[in-house]
Amino acid sequence: MRNKKTLLAVGVFLIFSVMALVGSDVNTSSPKITITPELKEKFPMKPHHEKLAFKCVDCHEGQGDDPENFKAIDDKGCLSCHKTKQFLADRLKFMDALHTNPHNSIHDGPKLYCDECHYEHKKSDNMCLSCHSNDVKLWMRPTP
Ligand code: HEC
Ligand code: HEC
Ligand code: HEC
Ligand code: HEC
Repeated sequence: MRNKKTLLAVGVFLIFSVMALVGSDVNTSSPKITITPELKEKFPMKPHHEKLAFKCVDCHEGQGDDPENFKAIDDKGCLSCHKTKQFLADRLKFMDALHTNPHNSIHDGPKLYCDECHYEHKKSDNMCLSCHSNDVKLWMRPTP
């Protein structure tokens, strides 16, 4: 008698657990976002990300299910994959010799915001150029 009740309780609990799991999956972790070819054209990715077959939500995670209303991602978004500013500074360490490492500049160290230079859906723009308009091209390649 007692065992039957326990079994029933466990059964009901399991059914509700599964329903909750399925429900949350539909509502939050994988919202149904439709990406049309027009939308891809409107928000083109940089070649280095495009070739990795990124989906919009790889960057715009948790920004709702209307792609037209996605918002810019900040340093935290970039660094969720690119580790830390210091890690990036070290990767371009060879540029430190002439103090021209954009990720560890003589003025600001490894502190600048990514979007002072890098954009995803439009051409990037090197902030250093705003003062060093003549010499930057000698120091660095274009901002990817
Ligand atoms: C979902 C993970 C992810 C996110 C988010 C991401 N990236 Fe990347 N990115 C990569 C991977 C992986 C590569 C290719 C390997 C590498 O160079 O680290 C790459 C490559 C790059 C490259 C080119 C590297 C080269 O050698 O030419 C740049 C520049 C770059 N990312 C900048 C950014 C910026 C700026 C942001 C934020 C707007 C960003 N990434 C967000 C994963 C990511
Ligand atoms: C002052 C401008 C500037 C800022 C700020 C900046 N970058 Fe860069 N970044 C560049 C330039 C220029 C290059 C190309 C350097 C070269 O190869 O000559 C580059 C190269 C890269 C690369 C490819 C080289 C590598 O290390 O693999 C990645 C990845 C990258 N940036 C990510 C980022 C991220 C993420 C941020 C923010 C934390 C950031 N950058 C901030 C200008 C900048
Ligand atoms: C590698 C990361 C990354 C990927 C992948 C990505 N975005 Fe973005 N998105 C950004 C960044 C960074 C910005 C800020 C503006 C910029 O850098 O161009 C942004 C801005 C936006 C904005 C706001 C534009 C504005 O004017 O404020 C929309 C909308 C958007 N993205 C849609 C998309 C769509 C749709 C896709 C997929 C086709 C996509 N994004 C894929 C990083 C990404
Ligand atoms: C607000 C203006 C401004 C910006 C932006 C700027 N600089 Fe400078 N920079 C200067 C001035 C002023 C000097 C000192 C005079 C000179 O040597 O031209 C200087 C000097 C330098 C020098 C020579 C230092 C030496 O070793 O003798 C380097 C290298 C340099 N900057 C790199 C950068 C880099 C990299 C960036 C981007 C991350 C940048 N600068 C952004 C104004 C700026």
